[in-house]
Amino acid sequence: MQTSLNVALGDSLERAASTSSAILRIESLHKVFSSGSQEIAPLNGIDLSIERGEMIAVVGPSGAGKSTLLHLLAALDTPTSGEVYFAGNSLQSLSEATLAEYRNRSVGLVWQRHHLLPDFTAAENVAMPLLIQGKTLTSALRDASERLAEVGLADRAEQPAGQLSGGEQQRVAIARALVNGPDLLLADEPTGDLDQRNAEAIFDLMQRLHRAHQLTSIFATHNLSLARRADRLLHLEHGKLAPAEEARVTRV
Ligand SMILES: Nc1ncnc2c1ncn2[C@@H]1O[C@H](COP(=O)(O)OP(=O)(O)OP(=O)(O)O)[C@@H](O)[C@H]1O
Ligand SMILES: [Mg+2]
Repeated sequence: MQTSLNVALGDSLERAASTSSAILRIESLHKVFSSGSQEIAPLNGIDLSIERGEMIAVVGPSGAGKSTLLHLLAALDTPTSGEVYFAGNSLQSLSEATLAEYRNRSVGLVWQRHHLLPDFTAAENVAMPLLIQGKTLTSALRDASERLAEVGLADRAEQPAGQLSGGEQQRVAIARALVNGPDLLLADEPTGDLDQRNAEAIFDLMQRLHRAHQLTSIFATHNLSLARRADRLLHLEHGKLAPAEEARVTRV
């Protein structure tokens, strides 16, 4: 059955395909936070076009606005001004119900801390987005098992998430992010809590899944050696996003 999102986005996808392969387009994006009398503007006029299948790393000093940008792309927050277009549709013009579908079906999210439910098994955690969508437990757990096998945790499916190691928990979080078959994978410091060896392993996994699932992936990181492995490296600072000339990027 076609969802309203598929219908809404399907129409414009056809139109978008004839003009451009950009899956995400950001136009003049501003975000201002007010706290008391102070205003903070981490995003001060961002323009960006992202092609289907790209893997993009966003680096920049702490407080530069990387998480803020990812929240806007995931429609978890609204811009102060400017537009985010997904497949030609302005997120700002979608109804709340369609936005909820966008978040649930088009976007997979991975955070620095995995936000798993520790008393539920790995499989139940991965199945959760499908259960929320109304799938039956049997079918949700079957899909969850497949995703867990893909991240190398087939043998841990029945283990409570709280008993897994940090690296394993992040694998479960990645499996959960992909269980709905999203177009976009947005990851906010996905390796931030891991040692370099585990960080490399998680990044290798994300890169493999990015290709296998034909994802468009955007991740924020302070790990420059991983960031350099993306197709494109962008640097966010003083409210502006620019291609990072590697020689210039010393603080991430
Ligand atoms: N809800 C909010 N209310 C007020 N200020 C906020 C809010 N969210 C973020 N900020 C401010 O916006 C700026 C950007 O924050 P953000 O979390 O996006 O930075 P970041 O680049 O992700 O940093 P880090 O690398 O430490 O994760 C910071 O100055 C932060 O304090
Ligand atoms: Mg952040």
